[in-house]
Amino acid sequence: MLAVSGKSAEPLIRLENVSKIFNPGSKSEVRAVDDVSFSMQSGEIISLLGESGSGKTTTARLMLKLSQPTSGQIYFHGQDIIPWTKQSESIRYWGQVQAIFQDPFASFNSFYSVENLLANAFRLVKGTFTRKEKVDKMLWSLESVGLNAAELLTKRPHELSGGQRQRIMIARVLIIQPEVLIADEPTSMIDASSRAGILNILLKLRQEMGMSIIFITHDLGMAYYTSDHLYIMNQGKIVERGTPDEVVHHAKNEYTKRLLEDVPTLEKKWAI
Ligand SMILES: Nc1ncnc2c1ncn2[C@@H]1O[C@H](COP(=O)(O)OP(=O)(O)OP(=O)(O)O)[C@@H](O)[C@H]1O
Ligand SMILES: [Mg+2]
Repeated sequence: MLAVSGKSAEPLIRLENVSKIFNPGSKSEVRAVDDVSFSMQSGEIISLLGESGSGKTTTARLMLKLSQPTSGQIYFHGQDIIPWTKQSESIRYWGQVQAIFQDPFASFNSFYSVENLLANAFRLVKGTFTRKEKVDKMLWSLESVGLNAAELLTKRPHELSGGQRQRIMIARVLIIQPEVLIADEPTSMIDASSRAGILNILLKLRQEMGMSIIFITHDLGMAYYTSDHLYIMNQGKIVERGTPDEVVHHAKNEYTKRLLEDVPTLEKKWAI
């Protein structure tokens, strides 16, 4: 493809006819992701929506190379990521495509301190760092997500609140500075009072660092007000796609219309 004004016209991430079938051919076969195609441009925020079991996390895991598709292609800057099997290739990729998940506790080794967890992120960052450079960057990252670094570095996961744990996972992302962050229901296990704070930190990542974000959420209101494009999944398929206004005000698919009926207060709840 021709470069347009010095920038590649190739999307940042592109999925082409991607499927993931669990237990194929058996009675318990599940078409978790079924012929999914979409792409995102650099700097965009997109949201994947759909009810429980619709295939959102499986799609995220495929994009993160934590699972291989049954068929289809996934491109990152135009390069097919599926044949990359060497650990060095995965590590390079995870330096560019990172995720935070619903339950930040699950990604913590319970013996790790916050310092161990953050120090571990440096293996995904290009270049070498002195001990002082690492410590300075860890302190900066914790302060950037509104945490008291001096107090928290030696703490273990069970000594932290859910909101603090999720902020620490975001601090880890700040150290890595990936191009893409996949945020899989990042606030659903966090109490309402810390939710808006965490969402604002995530939105700053795009504003200040140009990070592209894929939100996975049940919250249509949040997706509507933050995203450039929405993708609605049902039973492994994308059944509706478009700008937030197209999807919310001109839904074509019956399933999307039903989802919209469940949020009659969308405008009210999110109107600023
Ligand atoms: N490792 C697995 N083995 C077998 N089936 C799986 C596996 N992982 C996911 N599934 C199935 O694939 C389907 C999609 O699951 P997935 O976790 O992607 O849904 P989701 O949209 O993220 O749901 P939720 O909103 O509840 O997080 C479900 O039917 C699930 O049971
Ligand atoms: Mg999920």
